[in-house]
This record gives sequence, structure tokens and C-alpha cells, in this order.
Amino acid sequence: MLKTFTSALVLLAASLLASAQPPSFDPASKVFRLDGGGVSYAFGVNSRGELQQLYWGGRLAATDAFPQAAPMPEWASFDASYTNTPQEFAGWGQGLYNEPALKVSFPDGNRDLVLHYQSHTAIANGFEVVLKDISRPIFVTLHYAIDAESGILSRSATIQNKGTDAVTVEQAAAAAWTLPPAHYTLNYLTGRWAGEWNLTQEPIHPGARVLESRRGSTGHQANPWFAIQTGDANEDHGSVWFGALGWSGSWRITVEQDQLDEVRVTGGFNPFEFGYVLHSGEKLETPIFYGGYSPDGLGGASRLLHRYEVKNILPRTPDTATAAAPKPRPVIYNSWEATEMNVNEAGQIALAEKAAALGIDRFVMDDGWFGKRKTDHAGLGDWYVDPDKFPHGLKPLIDKVHSLGMDFGLWVEPEMVNPDSDLYRKHPDWVLNFPGRPRTEQRTQLVLNLARPDVRAYVLGFLDKLLNENDIAFLKWDYNRNWSEPGWDQLPANEQKKVYVEFTRNLYGILAELRQRHPKIEIESCSGGGGRVDLGILRYTDEVWPSDNTDSFDRLTQQDGFSYAYPTQVMLAWVTDTPNWLNKRTTSLPYRMLSSMQGSLGIGANIVKWTDDEHATAKRLIAAYHQVQPTIVQGDLYRLISPRNNSEFSATQTVNPAKTQSVVFAFIHSTQKGRGFPTLKLQGLDPAAVYALSPIEGKARAGSPTVASGAWWMNHGLDLDQDFRGDFQAAAFRLDKK
Ligand code: DGJ
Repeated sequence: MLKTFTSALVLLAASLLASAQPPSFDPASKVFRLDGGGVSYAFGVNSRGELQQLYWGGRLAATDAFPQAAPMPEWASFDASYTNTPQEFAGWGQGLYNEPALKVSFPDGNRDLVLHYQSHTAIANGFEVVLKDISRPIFVTLHYAIDAESGILSRSATIQNKGTDAVTVEQAAAAAWTLPPAHYTLNYLTGRWAGEWNLTQEPIHPGARVLESRRGSTGHQANPWFAIQTGDANEDHGSVWFGALGWSGSWRITVEQDQLDEVRVTGGFNPFEFGYVLHSGEKLETPIFYGGYSPDGLGGASRLLHRYEVKNILPRTPDTATAAAPKPRPVIYNSWEATEMNVNEAGQIALAEKAAALGIDRFVMDDGWFGKRKTDHAGLGDWYVDPDKFPHGLKPLIDKVHSLGMDFGLWVEPEMVNPDSDLYRKHPDWVLNFPGRPRTEQRTQLVLNLARPDVRAYVLGFLDKLLNENDIAFLKWDYNRNWSEPGWDQLPANEQKKVYVEFTRNLYGILAELRQRHPKIEIESCSGGGGRVDLGILRYTDEVWPSDNTDSFDRLTQQDGFSYAYPTQVMLAWVTDTPNWLNKRTTSLPYRMLSSMQGSLGIGANIVKWTDDEHATAKRLIAAYHQVQPTIVQGDLYRLISPRNNSEFSATQTVNPAKTQSVVFAFIHSTQKGRGFPTLKLQGLDPAAVYALSPIEGKARAGSPTVASGAWWMNHGLDLDQDFRGDFQAAAFRLDKK
């Protein structure tokens, strides 16, 4: 009795603590405080007028009060108080040796910038805080907003030149985050084409670790996400601070343990090659840097981030405009691996007929349908239907796809041009280039300078026309190279570096405008796989293509890495043919299907050649997937056993928000020494509820219960069939609340 009463009190206290608490500013202590979910964040104006970070971590009581921020002391004569004090947004000047948030050069040669608090306004879920240089009219407005549910903060800055002379912004971060001295591990995502999404983990040492892209776009090689965990934290327990930058151009995140062991994470535009001229009155908006905290390990951090991304970042279509979340993605068929560029009306119709019979929702025709696109040497830029391949235009194919009960999607690569194209012959000046210098080709293509108003108008114009003239539900928007020779010779020499900002802004602008003109259109972000996945592009695109690597075994580790930063909802995963083109690995169709069913499922095989048995297997599993898809793609994800580090086994589990359904996937890489699959202790279920287990593929251990409490599944666990052994084996189960 006493125990019940105490736990009720604990619950009440927890819910009071987590209840909504508006952002506050205490004029006496000059402390700003933001609270949301299980998180509190505080900063204040110190005695010098700098904006100083005070706290970021687990939720504090509403009655807890911070004293006024006190600058850190000088550390001998080499590190002044200014450089030791954790500032929210430090200007480079006055002897700052750590990473600055902002660096500006003035026409008179002055490069000293010292930002002090000037004023603030409260907004619904945060603040706008204005800083100003101590003598010059450079103003910075810092935007803070906290999500009441997850406690995730969004931070960005607007830099304005209110002087009469132009100034050059040489470095501009969106935000800097500070953590107190401790032993930390940094997690970040690295890769290469066809090898994205490797989770890299390393201790944080004194000095700086720079994560970045200098490529003009997000890049496969590093992704703008980080998580920092305390020494004792792991997948399920312990403190984790995480963040993600919403920018699809060149970016940089610097994780720096300073001379006093504080850890600072500064992120925004990549300062390499940066130089943004602000004329009198002009402003520069930085991207948004999102940051969160979880006391529940890396798993808790990614669950918070996934929920936030699905609800707050992803775009909506009219039918989900006011819903809590966008719809699960349609199951798609994509023609790329089946036909590559050899697309034509009859071939695509034959694939579409097979796709419809499998239960596919959307048929997507990939590269090859336009211009003189026989190989990747020609055609990009000429966005008219190839009359040899489609003599009657796209209409007969689209009508056929519709009559089969699917909607139609089309591949485009709007920002690129082949030198062998009508567009390039007409407008050779439209590409990124330095006049008189070579134009380096990659995949025999050049990058159109989307920062130019005429190029922006052309790209928006042809896409708009394409969507006006054809009943297209979905665009796969590809981007198959990085920048070289990034000149913009329409502008004066000292202003050309603006291309790093304006290109990406125009990309976002085109996507936004297209979605406004065609509210039902859905878009995929692809850049030769996962080269443009970030929280900037995800405001305008409904899904991403994580990798050109379609080997279902490799995909397990890639999907695992992806899941630390991005939600399953956007993670497209095709089932393709075997042996896989990249690794030459042969795996069974159920294994390939289950690997892809962990994400937003697609089929990318040459299904015209599939046997009846293969069709039947795929059809059965697509139907099973449709039944549980919302739980898989929008439920809470638990990484039960990681496939990383050549693990013998791996397993994931998802639980829907109501805790009425759960889906479990289990994979064997290669059984060793006869070891059976470990008992899977499930997570996130209601311990008091009763759940019935049913197989999607594979079997539970003979004699083990199929109906049991959530407590049983979580404490005792799920035992798989004794014979579940071998190489590249897969099983999947669903649990439904009785
Ligand atoms: C790269 C993409 O990642 C592939 O899926 C495919 O669309 C090709 N481009 C087409 O050129």
C-alpha cells in the first residue's frame, strides 16, 4: 500500500516536472531559462555583458534558480578570461583562441569583433536575443526555441550589418554548445559513396575534432550529426548530448576540448572558403543547429530525435497538414537496378504489371527517360521526354501505372548538366566555373550554378512544367557529384563566395515553391545514395535514398548507423537482385526482404525475371509489411543487438506509441561454434499488458510461450528457433496486445 502511494507520488512529481514551463528571463540575475520534456537549458548575461552558457542537461525544478553568470577566471597570462568563458556566440576578437562563432572583417582593416548582450524578446517557446559589437554596428540576433515534448532546442543566428560600409563575414556558426569537463565519447557518422553511415566512436581528447564537408553539399564522407556520451553511458543508459545541423551546403562541426577541459561544439557554415559580403543593412541567416539531451543512452537520444524529426521537420502534404505525423511512405518499385538507362514504354509497363501484382503502391521510373540519355555521358539538362524511348510521351506509361492501382514517380537530377547536352551548348556560362580554367567533370557532368537567378528560374520552370503536364506523385531528386572550381563570375570577385550560401538557399527555395505549386507532390533526396541527408533538406523532402549500396548485409550496418541520426520513416530500402552487384554476395529473398523491411520498403530488382516462388514470397512479405509498417517506421526504435564490429548477430525492435504493437527483426551474419541466437530481451512494452507473438518470417523456439505479458517479453525475453543458425539468416515477429 505504502509502495503504491510512493510510486504514485513519484509519477506525479515526474509529470509536474515535465509539464509545460514557459521560457523565463530573470531580470535580477539576467538568466534565461528554457525547459521542455526532460531537459533544461540556461544561459545568462555575465558581468562583462557576454552571453554565457550556464546549463544543458536533465530537467531542473521550476523553483531552481541560477545566480548571474560569472566569467571564468584568467588562466595565467596565456588564456584570458575571455577565451575561457563558455560563450553562447563568441565573436573573434579580444584574444579568443577557441573556435569562434562569428568572424568579420571590416573595410578599414579591423577584424576585432566583441559581442555583448543588447536586448531580447520572448517568443512562444524561446527567445530572440540581440548581441552587438562593442563599438561597431554589427548586430547578431540569436534565435532559441525549445520543443515542449522532447526538449530539443533549435538555435540559429541572424547577422546584420547596420553600418554604412560593407563588411565580410568570414565565419558564421549557427550555435555553440558547451558541456562541463568530464570523460566523454564522441559519436559521429562517416563514409564514402556506397559506404555511408559508419558510426565512429572515440574518446574526446584536448584539441579539436573537425567534422565537415567542403564539397558544396552535405557529403557521403561525414554527416552533420554528433552525439557525445559520458564515459559510463551506452546504448540504454547514461547521459547523451546530441545535435544535428540543418544545412545541405558545405558545413562544419568542431568538437573542441579547450584548455580548461570544457567541451564546445560549434557548427554552421564551413568557414573554409567562406566570405559573405554584407552591404549596408543586409543580413545573413545561418542554418539551424538542433540539440538535445537524453539520460537514456544513445538509444534514448535517437528515439527523442526521431520523434522530433517526424513531427517537426518532415514536410506535410494536404492530407497530413494537421496530423501528428506524415503518413508512412508508400511501398515503391524503382527501375534503376533492373534496367539502368535502358528504359522504354514496353519495358517499364512490363515491370509495372509485375510490381502491381506484388502489392506495390508506387512505381518510380529512374534515370534514362529524357534527352539523349543513353549513357551517363549525355542528356542531363535536357528535360524533354526521349521520343525514341517514349514515342507517345509519358502518358501511356503513367495511365497504365494508374490503371494498375499505383501512383507514378520520376527521377530527375535538376542541378546537373552534361557538356553533351543542348542546355550546355546554349548556356556554357551557367555552370560553376572559373573563366579560363578547366571545368573538371565527374561522371561526365558539371554542376549548374543554382545560385544564379536565371539557373534557378530554369530549374523551377522545367520541374513545374513537368508536373503540370504529367500526373506525377513523386520526384526522386538526384545529385551525382560534388563541386569543383566554384566560381560565380556574374558577381564582383570579392562577392563570389556567396555561392556557398545562395546555391543551397535557392535549392530550398525551388523545393518550397514546387511544393507550394503542387501541394501533393512528394520528393526523395538522393545524392548517389546518402550524399545529401541532413535536417535542412528534410524540411522539403519526404524520404531519402541512404546508399547506392543495396547489399542487404551491408545495409544492416548502414541502417544501424543511419538510425542514430535519422528516422526509419525516411530511410528507403530496396530489395534488389542477387548476387548483389557491389559485393557479389548471394543472399536469400527472405533475408533481403527483411533487411529492407526494417526501413521504408521498396523493390528494385528485375522482377520480370523473378520466379513464381520469388513473387509469392515477396507478395506475402509486402502484405505483412503493410500491416505493421506504422509501427516499424514511426514507432520507438530499440537497437537490441548492433550489427557493427562484425557482430555474429543483430536485432532491432520497434514499439508503436500506444504500446499495442511491436515488431522484431533478427539477423544472423554467420553462426560460429554452434551458438544459437541469444534470447532477445525486448524493450519499451507495457509490462502489465499481454502480447501475442506471431511470426512474419521464421519461428520462435518450440514450446516457448506465444502469449505472455510485456514483463515476460522484456525480462525473460523471446527465444528463437533452435535451428535458426547458418549464414545470412533472418527472422521477424510481431507482438500484438491482446
Ligand atoms: C544515383 C542514384 O543513387 C541511383 O539510385 C540512380 O538513381 C542513379 N543515380 C541514376 O543515375
